[in-house]
Amino acid sequence: MKTLETERLLLRPFTKEDEQIHRVVFSDPEVCHYYCGNTRSLEEVREWLIHRSWQAKNDDLGFLAVVRKQDSALLGLIALQYYVDWYIVWEDDPKARYNRIEVELSYALGRRYWGSGYITEAGKAVVHYAFHHLKLPRIAYGVDPANTRSINVMKRLGFRLGKNLHPEWPGVTGVLVNDITIGV
Ligand SMILES: CC(C)(COP(=O)(O)OP(=O)(O)OC[C@H]1O[C@@H](n2cnc3c(N)ncnc32)[C@H](O)[C@@H]1OP(=O)(O)O)[C@@H](O)C(=O)NCCC(=O)NCCS
Repeated sequence: MKTLETERLLLRPFTKEDEQIHRVVFSDPEVCHYYCGNTRSLEEVREWLIHRSWQAKNDDLGFLAVVRKQDSALLGLIALQYYVDWYIVWEDDPKARYNRIEVELSYALGRRYWGSGYITEAGKAVVHYAFHHLKLPRIAYGVDPANTRSINVMKRLGFRLGKNLHPEWPGVTGVLVNDITIGV
């Protein structure tokens, strides 16, 4: 993963030393609820950081720490990750289920950092990296319909929203298509 820079933020690969991400994100039930379900222990987060820092050196996708340039505060995380879309039936392509590899944009901020536009700012830089550097065809994923803050972020980033038609996972889907690959 490359380090990316925006007006207020540095988006850089995680290192094993970034244990504050436990306090900021993974120990807060409200932040974890939509992001990863349950909170995680410091031990689990230390292990997570080993994997994340390895991935950051060796993979084009992965997790970036969201750091505020002004005071070097670790605000949260943002990631591009592969997944298999087994839990999504796409409204515009309902037959394409269970066997497609997609890339999602995921993110979480410490609660005290909500409401300042940080993830929209970080998201724009990561989407630009995904489309212009990696040339990904699209970023697409499903979210819980009650996660309005995340849905608002997706809207601000230009995602086309639709329905997840999967009977067991009804929700909202978001698709952002790389215009520069259309017609290639
Ligand atoms: C999803 C999440 C990152 C969104 O955080 P957020 O702070 O609402 O999103 P942004 O960083 O884009 O900030 C937007 C807010 O900042 C405000 N804002 C203030 N200054 C701003 C600026 N300079 N630029 C843009 N927005 C600004 C916007 O008006 C908006 O406020 P509002 O929601 O009251 O209308 C956060 O709620 C979170 O971590 N949730 C838990 C994890 C999660 O759900 N992850 C996604 C799983 S799909």
